Amino acid sequence: MDLKHHIRGIPDFPKPGILFYDISTLLRHGPAWKEAMRRLAVLVRPHRPTVLAGIESRGFLVAAPLALELGLGFVMLRKRGKLPGAIIGLNYALEYGTDRIEMQADAVRPGDRVVVLDDLLATGGTLAACIALLRQAGAEVPGAAALIELTFLKGRDRLGGTAFDSLIAYD
Ligand code: PRP
Ligand code: MG
Repeated sequence: MDLKHHIRGIPDFPKPGILFYDISTLLRHGPAWKEAMRRLAVLVRPHRPTVLAGIESRGFLVAAPLALELGLGFVMLRKRGKLPGAIIGLNYALEYGTDRIEMQADAVRPGDRVVVLDDLLATGGTLAACIALLRQAGAEVPGAAALIELTFLKGRDRLGGTAFDSLIAYD
């Protein structure tokens, strides 16, 4: 099955000149979505994770079913101000301005092996910040994965020692 057939490219979203890779059509197709999760499970299992992490918001769509498939729990990495209780966070640079990713302070423990999931890797800024935050919390982050990778942006070069896999590449 060619999963690329289930991704729709929408021009000029969210800004003129940007081609947006829309996963809605993949989510909408039961067999293709199931196959995507099966293939991700094959890539993630060798990292021997103790827990998964999903990046708000589209990363939650990937992390939750994969956690069920692997028999693991998962942790939410959220945008600022969304999580209750004791929080740790990290600011990171965007093309214009900065953003912040947060998680609950007790979400991972030293000794945890966390694999981070998202829908798409572009510049890698978001994922690099998430990996740094998880490491700050004492976890190991042996791997990360996404459905889609924009290889021409070389995001995977920003991930330090964390291995990265994707199912669908655009270059
Ligand atoms: C998109 C995408 C990734 C991130 C990739 O999320 O879902 O999380 O950008 O970009 P980067 O590799 O350049 O950091 P977005 O912030 O648009 O929000 P969403 O997931 O809530 O839709
Ligand atoms: Mg996102």
